[in-house]
Formats: sequence, C-alpha cells, structure tokens
Amino acid sequence: MTKNILILPGDGIGQEVSTSMKEVLHYLIEEQSLDFKITERNVGGSSYDEFGTPLTEEALKIAKDSDAILFGAVGGPQWDNLEWDNRPEQALLALRKSLSLFANLRPAFLFNELASASPLKNNIIENLDILIVRELTGGIYFGEPRGIVENESPKYGFNTMIYNEDEIRRIAKVAFEAAMNRNRKLCSVEKANVLEVSKFWRSIITEMGSEYPEVELSHQLADNTAMQLVLNPNQYDVIVSGNLFGDILSDIAATLSGSIGMLPSASLNSSSQGMYEPCHGSAPDIAGKGVANPIAMIASLAMAFEYSLDRIDIAKRIESAIKIFISNGLRTKDIATSEEFVQTQDVAPALINILKDGHE
Ligand code: IPM
Ligand code: MN
Repeated sequence: MTKNILILPGDGIGQEVSTSMKEVLHYLIEEQSLDFKITERNVGGSSYDEFGTPLTEEALKIAKDSDAILFGAVGGPQWDNLEWDNRPEQALLALRKSLSLFANLRPAFLFNELASASPLKNNIIENLDILIVRELTGGIYFGEPRGIVENESPKYGFNTMIYNEDEIRRIAKVAFEAAMNRNRKLCSVEKANVLEVSKFWRSIITEMGSEYPEVELSHQLADNTAMQLVLNPNQYDVIVSGNLFGDILSDIAATLSGSIGMLPSASLNSSSQGMYEPCHGSAPDIAGKGVANPIAMIASLAMAFEYSLDRIDIAKRIESAIKIFISNGLRTKDIATSEEFVQTQDVAPALINILKDGHE
C-alpha cells in the first residue's frame, strides 16, 4: 500500500537539512522501489509569509492523511513579534495536538568519536545512550484554564498542569515498552514533592510498574534529574516525563552529546502515525551558509522508517551509514575539531555512497 509522506521543511536551516534528507529519501525510494507518495508544504514563518498563517488548513489536512511527517524547523527573528496565534511555534503545537502525537521519543546518544565536542569530561559521557520519552499533547502546555488577566490589579497570567490517568497510562506504556527493548531501566521524572499532578503521576506509574516486573523502575524529582543528567548521565536508560519537564530535560540531554545537530526525534500517536524532526531549531544565524548539520534530519528519516513506514531494516541502514560517516572522520562545522569540515550539501552524497557500498 502507498505510504504518504509529508515534508515540512519550515524556516532557517530547516530548508537545507530537508534538502539533504530528501536526497537520501529519494535514493532509497529508487533503490528499494518504495511505493511512497511525497508531498511538500510550507510551515512556520515561511507559511505565514505566503498564506498569513503558520499552518494552513490544507497542510494540516495533508498531515492528518500522512503516515509520516518530516518536519525541519520553524522560527526566526522576523516572526518573533507576530501575534500569538501566528507565531511559527503554533504550527508545531497544532500539528502535535491535532494528530494526537502524544509520545515524543528523544534519544540522546554519543558517538564516542565526538566525545570532545561534549561539554562534559570524556569519562562521564562515554557510551551515552538515553531515551527520553516526553508526553507531548497534555500537561501545562495544553491545560485549561489558561490565560492572561489584564483588567484586575495586579494583573496575572496562569496555566494549568493537568494529567488524567489515561494520558499517564498511555505514555507510560510507550516508555515501559521502550525500556523492555533496551536495558530495562525506566526513570519517571516529576515534582511529586510539590505538585499534586506529579503525586498522581507517580502513583499511576508505580501501579503500572507491576505490569512490567522486568523493568527496574525508579522515580526522580525533576530538579535532581537536571543535576544527575550532568553528573552521571549513564545511570539512565529510559526517562519518562510530562510535557514541560520533558522539554527541559531533553534539551539538557541533547547538549550532553555535544552535537544537537546529530539528534533526531519522533512524535507518535496510537496508530503509529508520526512526525519526525531534528532536535535542533531553525538556527537563523547560520541559515543558507552551508554549515548546518543535516544528520539529525536524516536520522529523523531513519526513525520514520522504523516507527511509521514499517521498514526497520532501512532505518538500521541509515543509522549505520551515519556511524560510518562519523568514523570515516567526516565532520560538519558544528562537530569539527579543526578548520576542515564538509558542507551541508556534501553530507547526503557521502551517506548515499556509504549506503550503496553496503548494498552491493
Ligand atoms: C521543542 C520545542 C517546542 C516545545 C517549542 C518550539 C514550542 O522547544 O520541541 O522542544 O516547547 O515543545
Ligand atoms: Mn524544547
């Protein structure tokens, strides 16, 4: 059956890293005679400039009908002062919510060859391999009531952090199952010492732990996890957390690997539909200069093959091509230790050559 893929390159370096990803995708489509229908649309600031909205109804409809959405990055200083509903980030939030992409998988791993790019000492960071499972469609990001009240004194702003048991159970299931496929350790992160919603979260996770006796379950307070991620990141295998804490912790984890330009992510719903995006943003300061690292975007394509396109074999091939690329000493500017580096546009052809070699 035809698989539908929507590419949303977005803004800034989202454009160039998507171009590289498309080269790899088109190579694989041809090599494997894949029955894929590819559509591309603007999103974020580039959509706002063209249509006056960061996400058109049409793009949203295509997204809903897609098996996988490959999302570059959105945002840039020229759109920073737009009214709330037209800000580029709203496109991302709307896509997550409308497609119920509740499970955000954010792996943080280190290629040991790149250890010197990490801000941490080599012995702390070596062999880093963590998966953060972040709840993505609930919690304080979407909780009601919310708002800003200007006609009272003092004025105030407020949000609601709320999770019901079903939301906690479904993200916990994803996390426990991921742990079963990895090193069988799961750490659930919240602020159960302060927040009722966290206390409740902990009770549901604990209850579910009995369904997964092989998984070593622990609970940590989010502030402690922030510290532990820097002191001893290798204590973790899988971390599960709510939307806000997961957002913060996944940035810390990504930074540890020294190269946010290397890390992919997947956001999935219960029918394995997924949106795949690099962890980095649109980096307007380096856009168009040929120095962006497209590997996170290409690794996101690998995750799409694994989780939404039923081709884990292809996912593994892309991932091992990336490993070979790195062990061959090829470096984009963000991970280069010398003045010598490859340009954005050189990465896909190099990866395709590696894919071809492995194929013969
Ligand atoms: C992320 C980003 C988004 C978030 C922003 C851009 C809305 O920081 O994907 O982590 O907060 O979820
Ligand atoms: Mn974030």
